[in-house]
Amino acid sequence: MARLTILEYPDPRLRTKAQPVAVFDAELKQLVADMFETMYAAPGVGLAATQVNVHRQVLVADMSENSDQPLVLINPRILEKDGIQVYQEGCLSFPGIFADVERALKIKVAAQDVDGKEIVLDIEGPLAVCIQHEMDHLVGKVFVDHLSAFKRSLLLKRLEKKRKQSA
Ligand code: NI
Repeated sequence: MARLTILEYPDPRLRTKAQPVAVFDAELKQLVADMFETMYAAPGVGLAATQVNVHRQVLVADMSENSDQPLVLINPRILEKDGIQVYQEGCLSFPGIFADVERALKIKVAAQDVDGKEIVLDIEGPLAVCIQHEMDHLVGKVFVDHLSAFKRSLLLKRLEKKRKQSA
């Protein structure tokens, strides 16, 4: 396994739209394994392939307390959405900054697993936030896109400051 480099905002590659996965081979399994390793090491609770500069519709997530419930969704699409929740989100492409984002409370998602088998999941709460956030990455969207221009500029200034401090 290998840790992959995570692209950080405002890297323009984060705006790339991912292509659907058509071939479920060993290379895909390796990508998924590497994405899990990268996510757990960061540490983070979700990672989209876009963030590691692979523009295919693959995301991994694990919001369990003991990091023992890995979830991989390939070619995910939302079938149904219901309700509203506001949750404080972060993103591995925006190290150290967080913001409240409004998203659906419950989602029904269809996807494929790493073997290409069709799955349908009903997800709600924080994991539903995570999946919606990661699915945004696959269409070139990032969480600050959901904020007002004012809030976004404050947050991006904070990101700049953090970067200077850690440089
Ligand atoms: Ni993210």
